Amino acid sequence: MARLVINPKRKKSKIHKEIYGHFSEHLGRCIYGGIYVGEDSPIENVNGMRTDVVEALKEIRVPVLRWPGGCFADEYHWRDGVGPKEQRKKIINTNWGGVVEDNSFGTHEYFELCRQLGCETYVNGNLGSGTVREMSEWVEYMTFDGVSPMAQLRAENGSEHAWKLDYFGVGNENWGCGGNMNPDYYANEYRRYQTFVRDYQKGHKIQKVCCGPNVDDYEWTREVLSTCFRHSAGSDRGFMDGLSLHYYVHPEGWEIKGSATEFDETVWYKTLNKAVYMDELIRRHGAIMDEFDPEKKIAMIVDEWGNWFTCEPGTNPGFLYQQNTMRDALVAGITLNIFNRHSDRVRMANLAQIVNVLQAVILTEGDQMIKTPTYHVFNMYKYHQDADLVDSHMETEMIGPEEWRVPNLTESVSVDQDGILHLTVTNLSADEAYDVDALLVDTAVSEVTGEILVNEMHAMNTFENPENVTVSKFDGAAITEHGLKFTMPACSVLHLAVKTEA
Ligand code: AHR
Repeated sequence: MARLVINPKRKKSKIHKEIYGHFSEHLGRCIYGGIYVGEDSPIENVNGMRTDVVEALKEIRVPVLRWPGGCFADEYHWRDGVGPKEQRKKIINTNWGGVVEDNSFGTHEYFELCRQLGCETYVNGNLGSGTVREMSEWVEYMTFDGVSPMAQLRAENGSEHAWKLDYFGVGNENWGCGGNMNPDYYANEYRRYQTFVRDYQKGHKIQKVCCGPNVDDYEWTREVLSTCFRHSAGSDRGFMDGLSLHYYVHPEGWEIKGSATEFDETVWYKTLNKAVYMDELIRRHGAIMDEFDPEKKIAMIVDEWGNWFTCEPGTNPGFLYQQNTMRDALVAGITLNIFNRHSDRVRMANLAQIVNVLQAVILTEGDQMIKTPTYHVFNMYKYHQDADLVDSHMETEMIGPEEWRVPNLTESVSVDQDGILHLTVTNLSADEAYDVDALLVDTAVSEVTGEILVNEMHAMNTFENPENVTVSKFDGAAITEHGLKFTMPACSVLHLAVKTEA
């Protein structure tokens, strides 16, 4: 019996809805084909955006969408993607398969997509190969409503009104594809470029995101922060609102990666062990951030995370297309529980990537679309968005092979604006169920409903069998004298909504 103690009265931090964010890059079939098919496509669309995909994404309440990259961002010149489509430059997508990028999806299309999704905007600027002026003029183009050359150009291109830009990334992975910079060099560049990311709209501040570390590069975090904070600039809150962190799970390491669908039990635990590692990364990078920013004003923004497997056989290796199984569902559930638990510092995260790339929530093939197991986890966890994390502790045991031990269960608990308690639990065991006895401190339960994603570890949805892995109603939670009792089946992700007595 696993004992779980929840104290609904001990509210911790707000779980910012942006933790449930997504990432869309000009990569493979993410934008083209996956989201954007153009107005003349036989696939049902609104202003070029696939209706089926937009509707599915609205259901999971996508709170924020990062664009246009990724590595693509540091080679993207925004002017190529505005103006009459037939005149837009056709360029080579050097990072992703060397294919032709016709720029038919650009700034105007991105804001139209976010309008349809009803989500916040997060644009990643080009520091690696662009100029300060180019970046500054892009921000002016997007956000300035008065009389200026960029505002005029935007109006000529069809949008008289400026858009709301919520987040702006000042470069991406500048330790690698974004220019192979050293941390102190990047930090000085960050200081310079961000100066010209102006706030033109009264009462609305663009949140500036500084390029943070890759995985466990603690030196990057320390050097960037110390260079940024030197000579006082960093003490001004507006200078840096977020520091990014990128971490992908590759079961067999970066070179080999490993199959998305064929794996044994050892690789199952190895993958989950690597997902659990996110907790250590957040704690250790967070401890460095605490030294420079003890009040936690700067958000940790995990704007790329997820499983990165070997691409599906027969597909373009530059397109990073991979299938998605119950293993991905578990990685999503585990990671989102970790983010919730660190929501005092982690205030945005963006799964890589939203459609057809890496750990996607949606896969498409022509006019067909499927929701992946990962999609269903986001749908079950959406109730945590903007809720308050509350204190919880689960007594767990370590399971799996010696080298790849993981806790059998993970959980996070929040209280939403209506006072409903949301508990999400993952069972990491491939074959064992666990009974959970939950004690709710000083709180009586009046009603509990649940939903669960459960299947065997290789289970996935395909275009032939799109409903193989879906959420089902969970009636297995019983109200007890001191809380709740339920059994977590092997390889499952559960959401319980609990009404309590006032
Ligand atoms: O998500 C795929 C790539 O992974 C991104 O373009 C890059 O930022 C990261 O290395």
